[in-house]
Amino acid sequence: MPHLIAPSLLAADFSNLQSDCEMINNSDADWFHLDVMDGMFVPNISFGMPVIKAINKHATKPLDVHLMIEKPDRYIKDFKAVGANILTVHYEACPHLHRTIQAIKSEEMKAGVALNPHTPIELLEPILEDIDLVCLMSVNPGFGGQSFIEGTYRKIEKLKKIITQKKLSTKIEIDGGVSSKNAKALLKAGADVLVAGSFIFKSTNPTQTIKELKAIQ
Ligand code: DX5
Ligand code: ZN
Repeated sequence: MPHLIAPSLLAADFSNLQSDCEMINNSDADWFHLDVMDGMFVPNISFGMPVIKAINKHATKPLDVHLMIEKPDRYIKDFKAVGANILTVHYEACPHLHRTIQAIKSEEMKAGVALNPHTPIELLEPILEDIDLVCLMSVNPGFGGQSFIEGTYRKIEKLKKIITQKKLSTKIEIDGGVSSKNAKALLKAGADVLVAGSFIFKSTNPTQTIKELKAIQ
């Protein structure tokens, strides 16, 4: 399966979202990565349902919604209603993770679980078969444009091994500090989905940057 590219709109021009949506529609990107932050689980506030609804009006590719919020169970139906296709919650924010995952799936969305850089992947082993996507944070969540944490490679390798052993189709997504400098090594370690915000949107030609990330062998 070729790897997927999910540009993070956190780094887009919020005053011109339609044009950035169209850029992604017409590019080699696979998903829209949308970062929801509540100022509680993470120290920053980004955007919520109304903005996702507006993006969904223009987007022709799946919406991969990354919830960096406390008690995400409160809003699962709302995110479905505004167009989320994949809904990712943080392990650290879900005391009843199995129930949360089932609730996401019962809304007919794919269920993702994100792990902060310090959270060991082994914690997911008992419920890995229920998860469609594991998002490994390669920066501390909350902000775009941070430096990639090198320890991520080991986490990818370990997780890939377990997924392969169990013959699962769970995808591994890497989020934070992804660029052409580390993309190839991330894919080699076992990543399936690369999220990139600043590297794409701060480049002079975002369409071309996406194309290059997608073409990595
Ligand atoms: C960080 C977000 C990321 C962020 C990535 O908390 O989850 O998706 O937008 O941005 P870059 O690619 O700039 O590190
Ligand atoms: Zn994200």
